[in-house]
Amino acid sequence: MVKIAPSILSADFSDLMGDIRKIELGGGDYIHVDVMDGHFVPNITYGAPVLKCLNGKTDLPYDIHLMIEDPDRFIKDFVMPNTEFIVVHKEACIHLDRTIEFIKSFGVKAGVALNPATPPETLEYVINKLDLILVMSVNPGFGGQKFIENTYKKTLRLKELIERKNSEALIQIDGGVNYETAKKLFDCGADILVAGSFIFNSDNSSQTISRLKHC
Ligand code: DX5
Ligand code: ZN
Repeated sequence: MVKIAPSILSADFSDLMGDIRKIELGGGDYIHVDVMDGHFVPNITYGAPVLKCLNGKTDLPYDIHLMIEDPDRFIKDFVMPNTEFIVVHKEACIHLDRTIEFIKSFGVKAGVALNPATPPETLEYVINKLDLILVMSVNPGFGGQKFIENTYKKTLRLKELIERKNSEALIQIDGGVNYETAKKLFDCGADILVAGSFIFNSDNSSQTISRLKHC
């Protein structure tokens, strides 16, 4: 079964805990946290203080997607009891290998995200150090965008690379996930699907999460 990481980017921030309870109820596997700095992507969201407010209030693990320039400056702030993955963008890291080691030095799992134009092969020399590879299926910055179709081919190619290199990295896809894309992505080898607007704009978020898991 595929794992689902609901993105709170599309949650109701006036009742964030309420939406987190809906994730728990629907069987969501992670809380996907989209951090944007207005430089790496043309949008600003929230930072570690928001997550600190949730400390001790949920057992769901955090899957932290840093869409920020020079992420090393902020990685430590996101190391919290619930933090499972910290994911940085390949395009934002000059010394990617060092950044991966830095994340792991806190006992947190390390992930790298790839923009739609970045090929999987760029990770060849770090792939055995990675716990997760996030394939962006939209250009990062906003929820509710249209799924980029060549993500299917890219996922298959990444899967092949992971197997060839005997890497244990999980494949996560982020952007434009709905019932239709979820099924095809699962068939291509995706392990975790991120979904924001499809879940939180639906009439029953918990039910949508549970249906996505069974796609
Ligand atoms: C986009 C973010 C996504 C976003 C996905 O930059 O990384 O996690 O929340 O939103 P949907 O599911 O609406 O495409
Ligand atoms: Zn994301």
